[in-house]
Amino acid sequence: MLEVTPILELPFNSFKPNTDIKQQRMYLRHLEHGGILFLPNLGFNFTADEKCFLSPDWSDGKSKNIYLRGNERNIKGAKGNTEELAAMSALIERYSQNATTLITHLLPSYMPHAKPANTSLRCIEAAGRNTSWRKDDRRLHADAFPSKPTHGERILRVFTNVNPHNRPRMWNMGEPFANMAARFLPKVPNYSRQQAKFINTLGITKSLRGEYDHIMLHLHDLTKADADYQASAPQMRFEFPANSSWVVYSDLVLHAVLSGQHMMEQTFHLPQENLSFPDACPKNIIERLVKRHINC
Ligand SMILES: [Fe+2]
Repeated sequence: MLEVTPILELPFNSFKPNTDIKQQRMYLRHLEHGGILFLPNLGFNFTADEKCFLSPDWSDGKSKNIYLRGNERNIKGAKGNTEELAAMSALIERYSQNATTLITHLLPSYMPHAKPANTSLRCIEAAGRNTSWRKDDRRLHADAFPSKPTHGERILRVFTNVNPHNRPRMWNMGEPFANMAARFLPKVPNYSRQQAKFINTLGITKSLRGEYDHIMLHLHDLTKADADYQASAPQMRFEFPANSSWVVYSDLVLHAVLSGQHMMEQTFHLPQENLSFPDACPKNIIERLVKRHINC
């Protein structure tokens, strides 16, 4: 039997669902062990005036997203006049508040520790995007970003398919992180603090990349670069319909975005101390496999 990402379907149609402690514990266990919380009835409403922003034409052409970065409120990746940019910013801000409310109600133990990172509106089509293999999210991968070391903080993401033409967002989900890591860890080069300092001096990283981020980034690159792995690794196709949402640890769940257009997304960074099942996190999985401590 293939070992693939389990989907836990939740019926809620509000960003403020009523949940009890038993349910919250189940959601934590599911997510932190590499499952996805799927909310098929949870869409995000655009006002009549906002619907015009469901178009790739508002992109500045440099970024695949229009986004707000963490608590910074100046919009990035967009073009438009002052009023249009303010309206896009308000829309993205509203999604951010909704996503935060959702996490507060589903996973209250994460608050106030979960730090908001980027909130994005992505209107470009995922299929057929012309990009380098490293940035090609149609290939199976777990998230790790070259310029943004997490220092061991987890990458928790809330997605909503806001496609106005009722089209799904199609993902492939891969095998458990531990299986992938066991295969690729022997190919990860040794960490060099000197090299990390050098690339940080050049401004390639926003902070000094530690060994954890070094390993995560190499696992990301090794999986994407391996054509045999992409073709033969266990994977399961899943369609997230329009007006549905899902919550996932994207640093743990192997995923490939096959197609889909119009999506909103909120990223949170969560310190490892605030996990309920730390044994299941990527750092501890890697440490068990390499049989030693790794620094963040
Ligand atoms: Fe990704």
